[in-house]
Amino acid sequence: MKTQVGIVGAGPAGLTLARLLENAGIESVLVEARSREYCEARIRAGVLEQGTVDLLREAGVGERMEREGLVHHGISLQFDGERHRIPLSDLTGGRTIVIYGQTEVVKDLIAGRLESGLPLLFEAEAFALEDVESSRPRIRFRHDGGEHDLECDVIAACDGFHGIGRQSFPAGALREFGREYPYGWLGILATVEPSIDELVYSHTERGFALLSLRSHTLARYYLQCEPDEDLAAWPDERIWEELEARTGVDGWTLRPGPIVDKDVTRMRSYVCEPLCRGRLFLAGDAAHIVPPTGAKGLNLAIHDVRVLAEALIRFHERGDETLLDAYSDTCLHRVWRCEHFSWWMTTMLHLPPGGDPFDLRLQTSQLRYVTTSEAQARALAENYVGLETV
Ligand code: FAD
Ligand code: DHB
Repeated sequence: MKTQVGIVGAGPAGLTLARLLENAGIESVLVEARSREYCEARIRAGVLEQGTVDLLREAGVGERMEREGLVHHGISLQFDGERHRIPLSDLTGGRTIVIYGQTEVVKDLIAGRLESGLPLLFEAEAFALEDVESSRPRIRFRHDGGEHDLECDVIAACDGFHGIGRQSFPAGALREFGREYPYGWLGILATVEPSIDELVYSHTERGFALLSLRSHTLARYYLQCEPDEDLAAWPDERIWEELEARTGVDGWTLRPGPIVDKDVTRMRSYVCEPLCRGRLFLAGDAAHIVPPTGAKGLNLAIHDVRVLAEALIRFHERGDETLLDAYSDTCLHRVWRCEHFSWWMTTMLHLPPGGDPFDLRLQTSQLRYVTTSEAQARALAENYVGLETV
């Protein structure tokens, strides 16, 4: 089998890249280890930056997002029992965020790909990426009980943090940077009208909590927990009590409802450099991870493939490799900005292990500064909605 761009992974990065290439008339084949049902059911991100929304719309896969996505103009930071609104749009010249689940983005992209009748193989696991330093790299994958070879001009490894993209670099070719955080998030999805109109990030001495949503009838809430928290210790009633204790303010009550999904997420920061070797390019979580606070992971993945698609178009149309050569450096500027922002939001809002009172005082001082200084609030806002130039 032969193609121009071989793509490993049908998450948001791989699917969006395939769409951008299709629109430019460049051939690609996508191989995805999991089933379509699995990919479409995985509950992950929910906040789209304006730039992500614009890109999906321009790529022709934004129709349902436009109809069903909820446009938000602000978020709140809560500390010392009070909520403080950060008016994102007022502080960023009218920019907004859109609440629309990653699950929905993935469904729309898969539907678009299949409608175009282009190759997207599910239950096709890549087990080796070969000859990546030659001009004909190959993806070796298992599918339908057999082993197959996909010969390409270029391989895009969009295969997430546990994929094989990074492992296919020669030993010593990657420099890695990272941090594990001593806490995780217990997330719930509840079929109940969300108790908030805008997201609330709450700092308390019991730990962090986040009130988010997916639609007018679906609430998505999170509690700071241990990285290896046992879900069995969290019956629904305990979750609602703890959410109430961490987010309650005078004159407001949390509306409980049926919990339809529970999960625990570990938190880490990770970057590898560079993002390419020969004809192998890493994009999205395959190359970098941010802790979820600040909602950057999906948006960063989409930014990588926007840059990669432009570079591939230039290469395939004119044989010019300048943008491909610049891909890693171009992306890393934004990657490190988002790494810093996510680390900053995370460490400002989560209870440090042992709850050291000195750390807590520093956190509330910083939160007070962010919510009272326009300059500080603007810095948070422009990072949150997505910087236009990094
Ligand atoms: P993935 O979505 O991980 O996709 C990679 C794909 O590659 C997978 O489908 C996988 O099955 C496939 N694959 C792996 N190995 C192989 C192989 N060998 N062969 C073939 N296929 C393979 N980000 C935000 O921007 N906003 C948020 O609000 C937000 N909230 C989050 C909340 C939670 C609880 C979590 C866990 C994450 C959140 N994120 C958020 C992060 C976001 O979900 C990820 O950054 C995003 O999924 C990255 O997309 P990706 O396409 O790079 O990787
Ligand atoms: C969500 C996730 C985040 O990491 C965040 O900062 C905001 C919202 C969410 O899943 O809704």
